[in-house]
Amino acid sequence: MKISSKMIQLFLYSLALLLSLAKTDPPPLQDFCIADTASPSLFYNNGVPCLNPNSAVSSHFVTSALAKPGKTSGNIFGFNATLTNTKNLPGVNTMGLTMARIDITANGIVPPHTHPRASEVTICLKGALLVGFVDTLGRLFTQQLRPGDSFVFPKGLIHFLYNMDSSKPALALSGLSSQNPGLQMTSMATFASKPPIPDEVLKKAFQITSQDISIIRKNLGG
Ligand SMILES: *[C@@H]1O[C@H](CO)[C@@H](O)[C@H](O)[C@H]1NC(C)=O
Repeated sequence: MKISSKMIQLFLYSLALLLSLAKTDPPPLQDFCIADTASPSLFYNNGVPCLNPNSAVSSHFVTSALAKPGKTSGNIFGFNATLTNTKNLPGVNTMGLTMARIDITANGIVPPHTHPRASEVTICLKGALLVGFVDTLGRLFTQQLRPGDSFVFPKGLIHFLYNMDSSKPALALSGLSSQNPGLQMTSMATFASKPPIPDEVLKKAFQITSQDISIIRKNLGG
């Protein structure tokens, strides 16, 4: 078979595609790096310093952090996300993983937000969830989830979860591909930053008036 320039082109394209795949956190160089949250770090590193591996015990790898529902009452959107982290689950350090328990009140939402460092897969455990994300072309991908259904939110894209049930709370469990996914709430970042984004900018960006801006700020508690 003759190798045509088309084939070489195709090969180079595939290679470029493979190399540009979304990466998770850097892989650990040891079996584990149990977060040493007690001793203060002398330097800033990417993650949390490791405990001496000889001190590792099973309890470093277990947590009950997700056992209980988070309190949703004080939240204007009606949700609470409880996350694993290096404090409540020291063994997760350097594993590139976070788990989240998401409790949403009747008709509550997790408003549009992004995780700059993680893709997220959500499984609906209770209730009826409307979930979706918007891609960089502005297309909305949305689904209604019933218990047992999963949905994936690509890294960095704006997504939301809405409890369609007006009488019962919903429960979802998420896995995120970073131990520090980061969270940026679109509405809060735009209208409730400190210091605030100048009105002139928001007026132009959203084609609204100063009055609209103060109403939105007030509604968001900003
Ligand atoms: C989430 O729930 C926890 C545990 O009930 C509570 O301490 C925390 O304040 C809640 N967070 C919000 C934003 O309501």
